[in-house]
Amino acid sequence: MFGAGYVGLVTGACFAELGHEVVVRDVLPERIERLQAGEVPIYEPGLDLVLERNADRIRFTLDVREAVEGADFLYVAVGTPPTESGDADLRAVWSVVDEIPLGLEGHPIVVMKSTVPVGTGEHVRARLDGRGLTGVGYVSNPEFLAEGSAVADFMKPDRLVVGAFEDEHADRVLSLFRGIETEVVRTDVPSAELVKLAANAFLSTRISFINEIANVCELVGADVVDVAKGVGLDHRLGPHFLRAGIGFGGSCFPKDVTSLKQLAGNSGYQFMLLHAVWEVNELQKRRVVSKLQKHLGSMRGKTIALLGLAFKPNTDDMREAPSRVIAYRLLAEGAEVRAWDPIAHPDDLQGIELCDSVLDAVRNADAAVIVTEWPELAAIATPEVRDAMARPLIVDGRNLLDPVATRAAGFAYEGIGRPRHASPVEPEAARDPELKL
Ligand SMILES: NC(=O)c1ccc[n+]([C@@H]2O[C@H](COP(=O)([O-])OP(=O)(O)OC[C@H]3O[C@@H](n4cnc5c(N)ncnc54)[C@H](O)[C@@H]3O)[C@@H](O)[C@H]2O)c1
Repeated sequence: MFGAGYVGLVTGACFAELGHEVVVRDVLPERIERLQAGEVPIYEPGLDLVLERNADRIRFTLDVREAVEGADFLYVAVGTPPTESGDADLRAVWSVVDEIPLGLEGHPIVVMKSTVPVGTGEHVRARLDGRGLTGVGYVSNPEFLAEGSAVADFMKPDRLVVGAFEDEHADRVLSLFRGIETEVVRTDVPSAELVKLAANAFLSTRISFINEIANVCELVGADVVDVAKGVGLDHRLGPHFLRAGIGFGGSCFPKDVTSLKQLAGNSGYQFMLLHAVWEVNELQKRRVVSKLQKHLGSMRGKTIALLGLAFKPNTDDMREAPSRVIAYRLLAEGAEVRAWDPIAHPDDLQGIELCDSVLDAVRNADAAVIVTEWPELAAIATPEVRDAMARPLIVDGRNLLDPVATRAAGFAYEGIGRPRHASPVEPEAARDPELKL
């Protein structure tokens, strides 16, 4: 397994759980040392237990030879972040392909788990052939796990997608998943590559769609939570990814939307829908600031507490987290920004004070913004929090709280797409405890 990140570690651990011998190789010495010492360098629920249970079947190394010698499969789970142009950065993928030594015994198969642009498989095949590695196979086996539930997602996937140049190679890869019951989609390599990009682009589209519906709700006096429920009960649509909020983030959706948009553009097609999905998402993050301004006027000199930093709950992943945009927009408007997250403690958020507890974050704050729907935040509308704040205003960026109960607890409340409950309080009125409802 090349790559000891969210995908590589989870996939490696779960393959060990299925009874396979796994060697995980990374290029980061600190990461490998920690894994060798029995530590888990990322936060992913349940992963520590799977690694511990299978410690005799999984090893960690920096050494390519140690990883590949005797291997039947060379899984690639390295990062493919966006470049400045929006294309996927495939340097880590190419470094893996170029590091595979000549003269390996047997006929190992390179299996691509990393999310890559359509056409990558063809390029890798050509590069392998060019290096004389004609006996090495190639299969695309994209990954659909979600951070926060990655172990369960691997063990109970909605489907396995396997795209191969040769049927026998697909058979061999599928044999690795023996014991896992699910639908199998066998296809060619480009289609497998596109399944992954299309799936993430579609999920992102649903999020931007419901966020636009939420914005309309605010103008016409409808409640997006009820609207989404009514829409999602249609069996043709389903309820998932219809939760309005402050936009999507993370290491996959933004990158894969950009990558597909760019791929289409490079191929001569303007994917207009994805342009809109992207723009809606950028605006959605920034709407938090206007919501705060609606209640507080200018942000200059105001103290804002951001509750949650990770791009979603149950992960420490801060890549492309909406909290970053919100924090820096608030700083740019002259606010003082504090933040709390139970797991994510980033060291690169300059000018933002990280707090150890929710109470520390909200103390004397003019507003609290729920940025990540950590379950513990569902219970923040307490007298303790209310009394600690300079103004008891909650902007609920994830529609986590019950607006009626929150207002009854003495807070001014502003959700996303919930106008019936969002009557703004005048800044002066909010300061007066008698008037703050
Ligand atoms: N994170 C997710 O939820 C998720 C889900 C599905 C698919 N994916 C895709 O899977 C891929 C990996 O994502 P991730 O989140 O695990 O990334 P990550 O950044 O967490 O991990 C990538 C790891 O690869 C290592 N690496 C780089 N070059 C290497 C090399 N030559 N040999 C060995 N290791 C090397 C890096 O040091 C890093 O530890 C990406 O293409 C991503 O789009 C991610």
